[in-house]
Amino acid sequence: MQVKSILTADQFTRSDLDLILNKTALIESLLKNHKQLNILNEYILATMFFEPSTRTRLSFESAMHRLGGRVVTAVGMQFSSLAKGETLFDTLKVLESYADICAIRHPVEGASTVAAKSISIPVINAGDGAGEHPTQAILDLYTISVYKDIIHKKIKVGFVGDIKYGRTIHSLIKLLSKYNASFIFISPSEIGLPDKYKEALTNQNIEYKETSDIDALAECDVGYITRIQEERFLDHSTFEKFKDLYIINKNLLKKCREDIIIMHPLPRLNEVSTEIDQMPQAVYFKQAEYGLYSRMTLLLYVTGLLDKLDAFK
Ligand code: CP
Repeated sequence: MQVKSILTADQFTRSDLDLILNKTALIESLLKNHKQLNILNEYILATMFFEPSTRTRLSFESAMHRLGGRVVTAVGMQFSSLAKGETLFDTLKVLESYADICAIRHPVEGASTVAAKSISIPVINAGDGAGEHPTQAILDLYTISVYKDIIHKKIKVGFVGDIKYGRTIHSLIKLLSKYNASFIFISPSEIGLPDKYKEALTNQNIEYKETSDIDALAECDVGYITRIQEERFLDHSTFEKFKDLYIINKNLLKKCREDIIIMHPLPRLNEVSTEIDQMPQAVYFKQAEYGLYSRMTLLLYVTGLLDKLDAFK
């Protein structure tokens, strides 16, 4: 098997992304007639999740099942031999003989890159601390592409909330930078975009601005809000200070473009009012659904088997 890990959104070229979006749309349409696309029958996916997750782990596992493959899983440090003092390297080394693909979520930034260097099967970064979440960014990009013409038109994306620790935002900025997009980062400066991402945008001549004013969402085609990442704050009082600062509700949407889409990687706390759940602008549950199709594409991408989809057309 050709080994292709997914570690950072940086690794994708525009043509990789266009291919992934096309194949994801194909999978979405194929699943209307097929419950299963049996391509990965001989493969086992290991989901190694050392931080909480609902969507990422379950959509990866569901994606593997829908592709005819099987899954083994380790959830939570306390239920693996890491709790007995085993190193991550030893855990992964053993895993190599049990599975063909490893999706890992770990609290330490860069953990998946270390994992990929340690073992010979493809490693998928399913979230590494405050670093990145590249597969979430792929499903986010797919969601935007469903609602907006990102190929032919320029879009303005407003990111709201915890932009410092929001790893989904870090990865999505990198992917959208390959398209015609500009950004507004809406947050207090204490939890604003880290300098390294700003420098990357400046170096690519990508237009962006920073503000703490939520009304800036009125200019945007896409509003992408995240929860304040409580688990990343060393000082709990900072979390308390910011936790309910921005709330997307009907009143705010009245000030926005009628065709704005509101995205959230979920889980949400109070930052998106449930009163907008039924409004056409609210696409966050569709976004989570698109995680299934996107992750099916990515499992085929890492195994080099994307072409096998053609047999189902
Ligand atoms: N969006 C996301 O990563 O959700 P989970 O933490 O539930 O996997």
